[in-house]
Amino acid sequence: MITDKSGKEYTVIPLSEFDDFGEVARFVSSVRATSPHLLRANPVTANEEKKFIDDYRKSAEKGESVIIIALDGNRIVAWASLDSKGGRMRHVTTLGVMLEDSYRGKGLGQAIIREILKHRTPLMGKIKLSVASDNKVAIHVYTKTGFKEVARFKDWVRNDDGTYCDDVVMELEE
Ligand SMILES: CC(C)(COP(=O)(O)OP(=O)(O)OC[C@H]1O[C@@H](n2cnc3c(N)ncnc32)[C@H](O)[C@@H]1OP(=O)(O)O)[C@@H](O)C(=O)NCCC(=O)NCCS
Repeated sequence: MITDKSGKEYTVIPLSEFDDFGEVARFVSSVRATSPHLLRANPVTANEEKKFIDDYRKSAEKGESVIIIALDGNRIVAWASLDSKGGRMRHVTTLGVMLEDSYRGKGLGQAIIREILKHRTPLMGKIKLSVASDNKVAIHVYTKTGFKEVARFKDWVRNDDGTYCDDVVMELEE
């Protein structure tokens, strides 16, 4: 269970325990449609999400990935992931987080990041993420939850309006 700033409670479960692939597709498609800072904007189908979750279950069993979702009733409203690519960089794990549009700005993003960091597996050493320099809210939230900028790639992100911003890499300070 996590709470937002108003004290509202949300049930948190591992994505591997959630079988409503249509709801997963609705959530991911809706977040992508309302998040200009995410790299992907295309909608996804229930079948694509079923395949994604089947693959994810295998990497979760190996301790290489963890995905949790926060539910408001039966509706997914927030998602956080930790994903290691394996091999010689398997101790480097990437954090991802996304919220449904109408649930942003209530403290839920900070709450789900703090929650997923409790679910790190023994394989997961360094935690890092990549964020567009224009995404001021996300950078503020990541800084508040313990991340620090460690690298910056100039103009690596092209915005929909044709302008460019930097790809910022942040790492969790232990
Ligand atoms: C980024 C995201 C995960 C943050 O979660 P959230 O629940 O909206 O954020 P929170 O409500 O926990 O915190 C927002 C913070 O940003 C601050 N903020 C708001 N506008 C801001 C701005 N323009 N510049 C800097 N900080 C700002 C708020 O004051 C708040 O900080 P505070 O708690 O210190 O007052 C969420 O908005 C989201 O899913 N966005 C779309 C997808 C996305 O961009 N994901 C990240 C990709 S790297």
